[in-house]
Amino acid sequence: MDIKYLYINTIGCQMNVYDSRQIACELKSLGYIETKSPDKADLIILNTCSIREKAQEKAFSFLGRLATLKKKKPNLIIGVGGCVAQQEGRNIIKRVPFINIVFGTRAISRLPHLISRVESTNSRIVDIEMPDIMPETINEQSFERASQGPVSNFITIMRGCDNYCTYCVVPHVRGRETSRSPQNIIRDIRNFVKTGTKEVTLLGQNVNSFGKKENLCSFPKLLSQVNDINGLSRIRFTTSHPKDFSEELMYAFRDLEKLCNHLHLPVQSGSNKILKRMNRKYTKELYIEKIEKLRKLRPDISVTSDMIVGFPGETDADFEETLGLMKTVGFDGLFAFIYSDRPNTRASEFSDKIPEKEKKERLQKLLDMQEAITRKKNRNHVGKIESILVEGMSKKHGNVIDKGINEIQWTGRTSTNKIVNFTNGHSQSKGTAFIDSSKEEIATGILIDVRIEKAFSHSLSGKAVTPGPLLNTYKGEKAYVA
Ligand code: 5AD
Ligand code: SF4
Repeated sequence: MDIKYLYINTIGCQMNVYDSRQIACELKSLGYIETKSPDKADLIILNTCSIREKAQEKAFSFLGRLATLKKKKPNLIIGVGGCVAQQEGRNIIKRVPFINIVFGTRAISRLPHLISRVESTNSRIVDIEMPDIMPETINEQSFERASQGPVSNFITIMRGCDNYCTYCVVPHVRGRETSRSPQNIIRDIRNFVKTGTKEVTLLGQNVNSFGKKENLCSFPKLLSQVNDINGLSRIRFTTSHPKDFSEELMYAFRDLEKLCNHLHLPVQSGSNKILKRMNRKYTKELYIEKIEKLRKLRPDISVTSDMIVGFPGETDADFEETLGLMKTVGFDGLFAFIYSDRPNTRASEFSDKIPEKEKKERLQKLLDMQEAITRKKNRNHVGKIESILVEGMSKKHGNVIDKGINEIQWTGRTSTNKIVNFTNGHSQSKGTAFIDSSKEEIATGILIDVRIEKAFSHSLSGKAVTPGPLLNTYKGEKAYVA
């Protein structure tokens, strides 16, 4: 089989990153190997996101830039997948005629077949069929191989969403909620662990309703099974919906030692009127009550959220309620978005839209307030010793080998999901670790205690606390020697 090169550009959420890995796996069967250079590619796949208009524009501007490449290399195959593909289908080919294939969010397993057809017949194909049942897409072995390495890995446990929040395109482009089988999920995580993964993030649009439709085990029960996997140190999940955030899950935060100290629970607004119009099915009071209950069970938990500003009909008073909720809860971090009309959503038909200028002003006000809260929260970590899962050299210092061991900065995350850049902080005479960048893997994948010295708005910094080099070991939970 000839070697052919595949370049994938992924826009959007972790679900898309995961899908892109699956795409790469599937296409191995046709002889495609991944390249980081679009110029070298025989096949370019763009995996798109349509959650907000900006993400969609990004996709079309990337496609526009491919025109020159396609002229130079007429045999280049270009495919567009993901949410924009699902939403726009044939319109994409109308708008960008040199595209060969448009495939929807549930067509990944059919991709090898579709690409072979393009290769042999040079035809244009659109496949946006959305079967309700999601087949297990990939052949196990190739997935295992493609998943090797990352200390922190993702696994999709469910797809689609049935909630129909009035602003959201996801149910329209990702289809009905479908959970994977717990056995397959556990099998895949075990395989990740065998190849070095220490932390796994379970992905889904609404993980807390995992298995309900199919009558599988509950999400907290699944977490408990993942918690029992030997060799895994940390478990995270995203995203859950406040209406489904159950007591059972709160107790999982109390009882499962591998479940990280972090919950991402999107609230979207602090006004009950707006929450109702968003079809969120909870009130501000219920949200606060759930967070308070959780904090009683796990007092040091960090809570982050998503917020939309400028939803149709949002008055100044509604917006003030959002700011009030932020103060009451004290989020560790917040992803805030300006409301954006999406095709086929109910909110796009609401008449009382907020002017762009006002939306931007509200966003700025919200971000300023959140920055102050985050800094304060981060400052609480200063002076504390935190267990960090080491992900590798920090980007800034990755190449500063010559400056000596004390200069090299490593990066990892706290259990609360805060980025920590840290130095080993010990003399070279204690050991030889970290002298050579090729030994980077020495440090990755271990948990190390770091004393936090400084807090910033997006990260923390500090020094490893115990003298001596980091060990090249995955066996111990603590991996340094005196
Ligand atoms: N406009 C703005 N933000 C949106 N989100 C989802 N749909 C829209 C939209 N139409 C935000 C929500 C969601 C996050 C992933 O994106 O806050 O939680
Ligand atoms: Fe969209 Fe609401 Fe489903 Fe989240 S829960 S994916 S916001 S419809």
